[in-house]
Amino acid sequence: MLRGTFELIGDKSISHRSIMFSAISKGNNKVSNFLMGQDCLSTVSCFRKMGVDIEIAGKDVFIKGNGIRGLKPPTDILDVGNSGTTIRLIMGILAGNDFESTLIGDESIGKRPMKRVTDPLRMMGCDITGKDDANFTPITVRGGHLHSIDYKMPVASAQVKSAIILASLYADGQSIIREKVKSRNHTEIMLKAFGADIKENGLDIIVNPVDELFNQDIYVPGDISSAAFIIVGALISEGSEVLIKNVGLNETRTGIIDVIKNMNGNIEIIDERVVGGEKVGDLLVRYSKDLTATTIDKTIIPRLIDEIPVIAVLATQAEGTTIIKDAQELKVKESNRIKTVVDNLKKMGADIEELEDGMIIKGKTKLHGATIETFKDHRIAMSFSIADLISDSRVMLDDTNCINISFPGYFNLLKDLTK
Ligand code: S3P
Repeated sequence: MLRGTFELIGDKSISHRSIMFSAISKGNNKVSNFLMGQDCLSTVSCFRKMGVDIEIAGKDVFIKGNGIRGLKPPTDILDVGNSGTTIRLIMGILAGNDFESTLIGDESIGKRPMKRVTDPLRMMGCDITGKDDANFTPITVRGGHLHSIDYKMPVASAQVKSAIILASLYADGQSIIREKVKSRNHTEIMLKAFGADIKENGLDIIVNPVDELFNQDIYVPGDISSAAFIIVGALISEGSEVLIKNVGLNETRTGIIDVIKNMNGNIEIIDERVVGGEKVGDLLVRYSKDLTATTIDKTIIPRLIDEIPVIAVLATQAEGTTIIKDAQELKVKESNRIKTVVDNLKKMGADIEELEDGMIIKGKTKLHGATIETFKDHRIAMSFSIADLISDSRVMLDDTNCINISFPGYFNLLKDLTK
């Protein structure tokens, strides 16, 4: 069982953005509770290579902004490691800067589609080349002189939306980005604080170019996507009660809380507040004996996309048939998460069927220990460490280093909470 109280580590999406927007602002910025995970450190490393002075001190980061057009041509190839957020958002910034740079990443990044970003940036006038017509790394961006764009988003993706918003800051007129379903809006919230001219009108985002962004002190709330593992662990292991302090509760991210409530899970939000434009609160989660199945579809997918692997583990312990559909985006994450979740849960004895766009899980089933192929996907590794809490013999993960991508100190925390 899991019991105890802890302070949640910083949000990955917000940490990336805090470095990027500070780097192109004018003045001295301070970021507190920054997530020192590998992905966010890849962002730090890319901006250092473009002449930005970034100092790390404990959980704080100090960034001397170079101004919106002050980045330097990189001293080296920009290596984004495993980070989709780094590569996609950075392309939006590079598109507006008058120099050439080349982006690479690890094996997983090499398989992730980039045309969703390179297409709209090309429409804005950016010169981009790369493997398979700039769909895959390595990708070379020659930026400068962008036109405004009126763009209907073909996929619900905050990374794509953010790249176009960032490029729009440098364009020659007003841009409109039209979403079908609202994706996470941390870029809009934070850029407004930096002085950008961004308006939201329903699902449309209207961006005007700016001459400068202005320095900020940013506090990064805790990452609900990281909390998700502990939340599910507490819901499924008998006797658990966990208080998670300082969880980011932006409505574009809280789909998992709605799903848990639908499933009859015992989760409570305590002391809700707003910090730096983002909602924050504490979450009290208790073991929930009578979990019931649910259906998850496109109306909620963007609000919980990263939590689906661990929600699948939860569904194995809920009475009835859980259906997860409209989730084809899972195939182009750090691994093909439909396949990695279904194959590994099958190995553990779950009653689970793979769909083209999701999965069907019948519960409640007893889970058995197995050797799990993580494909070095951090969220797969953590999801199955949670399945281990209730399996009749141990789960063996083929890689645990990948967890440092988003949750350094994860196993120490899990050990502290395990009673
Ligand atoms: C993120 C957006 C999501 C999410 C990723 C982080 C972001 O990706 O899966 O982990 O920080 O904008 P998509 O934009 O591809 O949906």
